[in-house]
Amino acid sequence: MKYKSQKVAYYFFAFSMILLLLQVTYGFIMAFAHMGYDGLHEWIPFNAATATHKNLLVVWIISGFMGAAYFIIPDEAETELWSEALAKLQFWSWAIVGVIAVAGFHFGWFEGRKFLEIPRPLDYLVALNVVLFLVIILMTLLKGKRQTTTAWVLTMGLVFAALLYLPGMVYFENLAVDSFFRWWVVHLWVEGVWELIMGGILAYLLIRLTGVDREVIEKWLYVIVGLTFLSGILGTGHHYYYTGGPKYWLLIGGIFSAMEPLAFLGMTAFAVQMYRKGNKRHPNKLALYWTLNTAILSFLGAGLLGLAHTLPQVNLYTHGTLVTAMHGHLAFWGAYGSLVFAVIAYAMPLMTGRKIYDNFIGNLAFWTANIGMLGMTAAFAAAGVAQVSLERLAGYEFMEVAKVIEPHFFVLIIAATVFTTGILLFMWNFLLYGAPSDEAIQPEGEPVFQVTT
Ligand code: HEM
Ligand code: HEM
Ligand SMILES: [Fe+2]
Repeated sequence: MKYKSQKVAYYFFAFSMILLLLQVTYGFIMAFAHMGYDGLHEWIPFNAATATHKNLLVVWIISGFMGAAYFIIPDEAETELWSEALAKLQFWSWAIVGVIAVAGFHFGWFEGRKFLEIPRPLDYLVALNVVLFLVIILMTLLKGKRQTTTAWVLTMGLVFAALLYLPGMVYFENLAVDSFFRWWVVHLWVEGVWELIMGGILAYLLIRLTGVDREVIEKWLYVIVGLTFLSGILGTGHHYYYTGGPKYWLLIGGIFSAMEPLAFLGMTAFAVQMYRKGNKRHPNKLALYWTLNTAILSFLGAGLLGLAHTLPQVNLYTHGTLVTAMHGHLAFWGAYGSLVFAVIAYAMPLMTGRKIYDNFIGNLAFWTANIGMLGMTAAFAAAGVAQVSLERLAGYEFMEVAKVIEPHFFVLIIAATVFTTGILLFMWNFLLYGAPSDEAIQPEGEPVFQVTT
């Protein structure tokens, strides 16, 4: 770590890990409910559990992004954060709003709008908080000694993500209209501007971990940004097929969303190519594994499993089934969960000065978490295909089918246990690192493991 204020990132990473643990707990509650064991129903009914599971997901990922920005931007811009005190204030206000929102879900204080459940009064606080966050990041970048493409792509991703939250805050009486704008947030986040955040963070990590020239890496970034916007914006149409809008979305959504995997493939090719070119001298192998994992699993989960149900002919049958859950899990984990893990794995040794680079717990965490998530994806896929065949094709009742597919949730729980073991091991390592320390400051920055040609 080069700058003292980068330590603020630690708060966000720790908060992110706590929320992930809670998210997983709600995942188990739902998985057991799907198996017929809904013992907590009176206190945590399925609708409250699902709202909590998905919104905890959004908040732990965004907390991870914020931590990543506080760590990366000073490093890239070569300056301390504009205000460390305000950054801490931003953290505590963010955490307080998050905790109130999650507690509220258990008293029915949510909106029934998947992923955007936070009630409107709290939305305003979130917006205020995010403005403060962006001011700190932008001021740091502007006062910095260096303006890099990597830092700007990351920052613009964050700015656009904040702007896109606004359409989700407008109130519409009509549910179809409300749903139309909900996708502006949900879809244009994960298949649009969050990909910029992902590209920026991947570029930062690859520059440091592979030693390949910044110029080469940043050229790729332009290609990825281009592919993302070209396909992702009109790709929103894959959510408008049968929702009461005009018919032309069938064609536009089908064509453009089918092109979206290209952006993710670009990301995979980019990371793998840089890894091959790199000199593999950086001691933090685990950070590199998580980085490559992000590039590869995002293509599998978002690109390929997204493509699997993106054509209108297929989506007619699969919409809103467990096929969607299959894709949702691997896409979110592969692209954004794993990305947050990569940043944490890279930043922790630098923030704490403890060089726990390549230890047994860390390696075991990597393999169990990912194998567990692949198993969960397979369980959701089996359940989803059975559900589509029985409910949508054979015409059985929803609850009749729910009974038939119960055994798949037993498999889900086993795989989820493996996954959870992985993330618990990762968190154990996180605790082993301890708190960040000023003694870890290296005025010259991290030693450069440059490729020599
Ligand atoms: C122990 C681990 C987990 C278990 C047992 C679990 C289980 C579940 C269950 C049962 C559902 C509801 C499916 C339905 O009835 O519609 C669900 C939804 C969801 N979960 Fe998880 N989950 C876990 C971890 C995660 C993680 C780590 C992520 C993301 C990184 C995640 C992302 C999601 C998403 C995006 C949905 C909504 C899916 C949709 O749109 O249909 N889950 N989860
Ligand atoms: C990292 C990127 C991605 C993430 C995190 C992600 C996650 C999700 C989630 C959580 C849902 C459920 C949303 C909801 O019902 O509110 C969803 C739906 C969907 N996704 Fe993705 N996705 C990604 C990329 C893609 C890509 C690239 C494609 C197409 C190639 C795609 C195709 C779809 C389709 C067609 C649906 C609608 C499913 C339905 O009708 O139920 N996704 N995605
Ligand atoms: Fe989408």
